[in-house]
Amino acid sequence: MNLHKSDCAVRTEVINGILLIEINNPPVNAGSLAVRAGLLGAIEQLAGDPKLSAGVIIGGGNTFVAGSDLREFGQPLQEPQLPGVIAAIEACSKPVVAALHGAALGGGLELALGCDARIALTGTVLGLPEVTLGIIPGAGGTQRLPRLVSVARAIEMICSGERISADKALQLNIVDAVVAEDLKAAAVAHARSLGTRKTRIRDLTVPLIDAALIEPAERAALRAGKQRPAVVAAIKAVKNSLNLPINEALTLERAAFEQLRLANDAFALRHQFFAERDAVRLPAELQATPRPVRTVAIIGAGTMGTGIAICALDAGLSVILLEQDEAALERGRQRVVDHYQSRVTTGKLKAEVAAANESRLNPTTDWTQLVRADLVIEAVFEELAVKLEVFRKIDAHARPGAVLATNTSYLDVDAIANATKRPQDVLGLHFFSPANVMKLLEVVRGSQTAPDALATGMTIGKLLKKTPVLCGNAFGFIGNRIYNAYRKQCEFMLEDGAWPEQVDQALEAFGFAMGPFTVADLSGLDIAWRMRRAGAATRDPRERYVAILDHLCEQGRLGRKTGAGYYNYPDGKKDKVSDTTVRQLIEAASAQRGIRREPLPAEAIQRRALLAMVNEAALLLCDGVAQRASDIDVVLVQGYGFPRWQGGPVFWARQQDRTALEQDLQHLAASSGHGFTVADLSELLNS
Ligand code: NAI
Repeated sequence: MNLHKSDCAVRTEVINGILLIEINNPPVNAGSLAVRAGLLGAIEQLAGDPKLSAGVIIGGGNTFVAGSDLREFGQPLQEPQLPGVIAAIEACSKPVVAALHGAALGGGLELALGCDARIALTGTVLGLPEVTLGIIPGAGGTQRLPRLVSVARAIEMICSGERISADKALQLNIVDAVVAEDLKAAAVAHARSLGTRKTRIRDLTVPLIDAALIEPAERAALRAGKQRPAVVAAIKAVKNSLNLPINEALTLERAAFEQLRLANDAFALRHQFFAERDAVRLPAELQATPRPVRTVAIIGAGTMGTGIAICALDAGLSVILLEQDEAALERGRQRVVDHYQSRVTTGKLKAEVAAANESRLNPTTDWTQLVRADLVIEAVFEELAVKLEVFRKIDAHARPGAVLATNTSYLDVDAIANATKRPQDVLGLHFFSPANVMKLLEVVRGSQTAPDALATGMTIGKLLKKTPVLCGNAFGFIGNRIYNAYRKQCEFMLEDGAWPEQVDQALEAFGFAMGPFTVADLSGLDIAWRMRRAGAATRDPRERYVAILDHLCEQGRLGRKTGAGYYNYPDGKKDKVSDTTVRQLIEAASAQRGIRREPLPAEAIQRRALLAMVNEAALLLCDGVAQRASDIDVVLVQGYGFPRWQGGPVFWARQQDRTALEQDLQHLAASSGHGFTVADLSELLNS
């Protein structure tokens, strides 16, 4: 055995005539310039040394290449680039085997597809997630993948960024073998068995088995991917594999990649990627060892409680689900059971996994059961008196040291904490609906929350596969506070001259999943109505207050569930139509305020709505409710349907001209009237 030191990012070792090429770029072996240069050097060594018969590329540590180094994507790319490395592997007369473990994603999978064979360890995940970052695979992924899996399947995989298991990859022909252990030995043996035989994917023809499936796959991908430029380009590139010689198609693929990586979508999506990674980190002064959590008690088996229970069961935790009476408990239990049944029926979950999860669910009405819980999450009605009573009971029954969380959307976490004799153990864990689907988790720090209780909240968030974001304890935390400011501004626009459908369409055209009035109708106007009535006594009478929602509710128009709200829903259908009564009501509101209605163009609607968000974001950042500006973007994108490819309100603001932003904010303040505080944008724009 000979050891050769090459570049520190790539190390080579000769094992009986086979060159083992090991990539070492911790933590995820991202494909950086040093990795590419090291690989090229190793391939030259393989080609030039007559004693070597084949090569094996493997990742050091616990993964193959989990993707390219994203930080390089916003800058001029340096040579050698990945297509050049892959071309060298293909041009080398000796076979090269890729040995995969951990993750082979993006450029990592493209590198593997450039090799002559792929051996994967059980548990490896494979995929081409480039489209989710606003680009397309730029090193042959769009040409080599369809040659293995067909065009329709390649469109599906590339456009969704789907990650597949090693077993699935074997079925699809992407890997040649899956081994349960000793990957290195298996790959070396495979390389030896190939002798001098090259088996390059580029030499295969694209299987034509699925011609009829291409168009449906294309349509589905465009719909799911909202016709974003990367999706359109990926489809075009994959289809080129059918019609063009591979070298020509590779050149076009690279050109599309080059163009996309410097376009706005890609910058915004990279920003979100890094923002999400940062969001889960607590500031240094709050870092602590989390308390261990194996059993979670959830109080309240309603919409949220059952959703949270499902997350916890999916994560392998034991769940005590506690309700106030047997009937409510049974309804909650049934909701969890129905969820798993439908997952099994639709083939999304194995029956034995569903059964194992359900076996860890302990429904009860007995508060003494709480003593077994390491973490208690309260999800009862949103009324302070009810929550205070519940927390007194939790305090009486939970074991010392258990972390106690409230899922409140708006209530004061400190008031709730003070209902107990252990406010240091209390925090907010604000899940979003449906709790088993939505990724966002606001982790709310009360004034007395202990760092290790907070760390437990962040850790449990990650365990439940959420993106936990730290928030200060202030009205609406981060998300609802900004959303309220946005919705209020949209209501002003109704009085100023826009119709609900114009506001909704303008914001949907910007990329929001749904406009604010469609959202309001969907979630029910009565929740906001109740909150408005509760706040009526303390509202400053000088503030601009739009009463349209109250008038709708007074007419029994509570949203979709009553067949009418801002829109009409004829026959209880999902399709909405606008209604002249609503228009009359809006016109009356404008007249009452003495406003001459002026039509608002879509761009003006978008800008006003975004400015309102940005202003509130800057205010709460100055108040310390968010610990970093990018956290705000994570919250809005993951919890409120803000288009990911627009990066979030902070990213959006940073793309604007600052002087224009500040001038427009002054105009917005003038039209919004008393109570609108213009924020200092410095921290938001510069941090
Ligand atoms: P829900 O009305 O569906 O469920 C509440 C459940 O709590 C009911 O099943 C009720 O029987 C139970 N409950 C009430 N008092 C109880 C007590 N003393 N002991 C035990 N159980 C009791 O309400 P939902 O929508 O699940 O909301 C729960 C909490 O989650 C609220 O604080 C809400 O603000 C918050 N939240 C709700 C969201 C939503 O979209 N629904 C989103 C985020 C947070």
